[in-house]
Amino acid sequence: SSALAAQQKLAERHIIVTAGPTHEPIDPVRMLANRSSGKQGFAIAEALADMGARVTLVAGPVTLATPPGIARIDVETAAEMQAAVEAALPAEAAIMAAAVADWRVDVAPAKLKKADGPPALAWSANPDILAGLAASPQRPRLLIGFAAETGNAIAEGQAKLARKRCDWIVANDVSEDPMGGDDNKVHLITADGAESWERASKREIAHRLADRIADALA
Ligand code: CTP
Ligand code: CA
Repeated sequence: SSALAAQQKLAERHIIVTAGPTHEPIDPVRMLANRSSGKQGFAIAEALADMGARVTLVAGPVTLATPPGIARIDVETAAEMQAAVEAALPAEAAIMAAAVADWRVDVAPAKLKKADGPPALAWSANPDILAGLAASPQRPRLLIGFAAETGNAIAEGQAKLARKRCDWIVANDVSEDPMGGDDNKVHLITADGAESWERASKREIAHRLADRIADALA
């Protein structure tokens, strides 16, 4: 059947997918979070698994069910996400759909009290998981990043492709498609240029991307 043929296209390939936000604690009751539902990343993990891939899904805090046949690792912070990705290596491809917090703060051991006024938070930069993977001796042969932008998604995506040394960037404009929706309009950016895909459900985009991944790994 065509379903079986599609299933075989990624048989035995190990692929890592990151999805969802990360949460960075401030004190025992507060955190910094990124806005991501995890829907696009989970749909990609499911589409890859449907094609026979062995998928490790590293998920930040989301309220989504695990698609069948997928090994899911739940994490909270960017540091935990990076450790989980590294522990899952080697992989033939990695698709970094997560919205990772760029910064963390020194965590207060006890609840900050309102009466003490707005806290002076001590910020530091989180590791860039995607850029780190690109520079790693265990670099997956196909490395895909995402870029959710409010400016020129194609130009920002092209700059990110070069800066992070990944193979493809899936860029979208979150002022057109606010994060958390069921549809998406994306641009696939590669060394060959930018392809603008028509607006579609996240599930359709996931299947289209999975097909392209299968072609690239074939
Ligand atoms: N990413 C990552 N680790 C980080 C930040 C981002 O792995 N600490 C990944 C994301 O999962 C995504 C890609 O890098 O695949 C681009 O993320 P984005 O936030 O758009 O890039 P930044 O370099 O953080 O740039 P910006 O200033 O636009 O946030
Ligand atoms: Ca960022």
